[in-house]
Amino acid sequence: MAEIRIRNTEQRISGEENVRAFLESQEVLYEHWNAGKLAAELQNKFVLTDEEKGQILATYDAEIRDLAERRGYRTWDIVALSDATPNLDELLKKFENVHTHTEDEVRAITAGRGIFIIKGTDDVGYFDVELEAGDVISVPEHKPHFFTLMENRQIVAVRLFIETEGWIAHPYADAQFQSK
Ligand SMILES: [Fe+2]
Repeated sequence: MAEIRIRNTEQRISGEENVRAFLESQEVLYEHWNAGKLAAELQNKFVLTDEEKGQILATYDAEIRDLAERRGYRTWDIVALSDATPNLDELLKKFENVHTHTEDEVRAITAGRGIFIIKGTDDVGYFDVELEAGDVISVPEHKPHFFTLMENRQIVAVRLFIETEGWIAHPYADAQFQSK
């Protein structure tokens, strides 16, 4: 289950209803899929063949189509990152810059963990959303954020897009950014 950390105050928010309510107040969509639906051998596998990626998409086909129908996504794929990913450190360095997109950024975590750092309302400031398998998040368009891995540096997620071109990152220089 996702957990929130507010960087200004070190306050943590946990429990599905609390997390959902907080994220709703920040206009971030949060939903939950059954992580246990995935075949056991794929729940802890971070280097995937195309066939295994297809198996994950097939497992969550109903959830993906439901989300796509409600929110207008037209394409989806699987992203897998781990220490086996070539140039992972470089990639992470690239990720770890606050930016915006012209469409929302949707991730459904199917294995591993990841973290979104998001700029909240003025009274909240930057906050972290720590995600694990089953967590589904959508960061709205134009909302400053970045994504990175957690200590275990392993994740598999479904990405959904309205237009793949809409997902280009626009750097967001912010004097108020809280790096910790
Ligand atoms: Fe992004």
